[in-house]
Amino acid sequence: MILVTSNRHKFVEISNLFVKAGIQLEWVQKKYEEIQEDTTEMISYRSCAVVRKELKDDFFLEDTGLYVPSLHGFPGPYSSYVNTTIGYEGLQKLVAGKESSAYFKTVVSLSIGDRIIQFGGILRGRISSEAAGSGGFGFDPVFVPDGQNLTLAEMDVVSKNRFSHRSRAVASMLGYLLASQE
Ligand code: IMP
Repeated sequence: MILVTSNRHKFVEISNLFVKAGIQLEWVQKKYEEIQEDTTEMISYRSCAVVRKELKDDFFLEDTGLYVPSLHGFPGPYSSYVNTTIGYEGLQKLVAGKESSAYFKTVVSLSIGDRIIQFGGILRGRISSEAAGSGGFGFDPVFVPDGQNLTLAEMDVVSKNRFSHRSRAVASMLGYLLASQE
């Protein structure tokens, strides 16, 4: 199966799950046009539809958003823009004094045959006022999953994969792929 992403961190996390499932993963390190939409589902779907025009083999890609309910779900589908503009420090400032709970949502879009099938995964937690850790990427240094004391950036890939949004979405796609192989 082919993963299309320009993000090395996403590839490392996902390849770890494929090794465990015994399925070969090929990485197409490609930056594609990410069309701005109102939902993570639609960004993922439209990106998949764009890549599908060039790549004839079956493949998948994913889009992830960080949702903060006390900010009415912001940044959500605008997570990429927020990360490159105000960064996690800016997000910490927006959340300061408000309810800090947040969640990541990953939507995998699998292009298979003549269909696009989506799989979702959510990780609930909170935005910490203290950044910590040097691992991971994006908002990992300020995101503390529910039931944990560490930020995602303080965890290694195997620990993050135990419960992450991305691992949940990919696990459900792997379940589908394995079931369709039987
Ligand atoms: P993307 O559009 O799926 O690449 O992600 C939107 C934004 O969320 C980007 O700025 C990423 O850095 C960030 N992001 C995506 N996944 C994660 C994650 O697992 N941890 C922390 N930040 C993430």
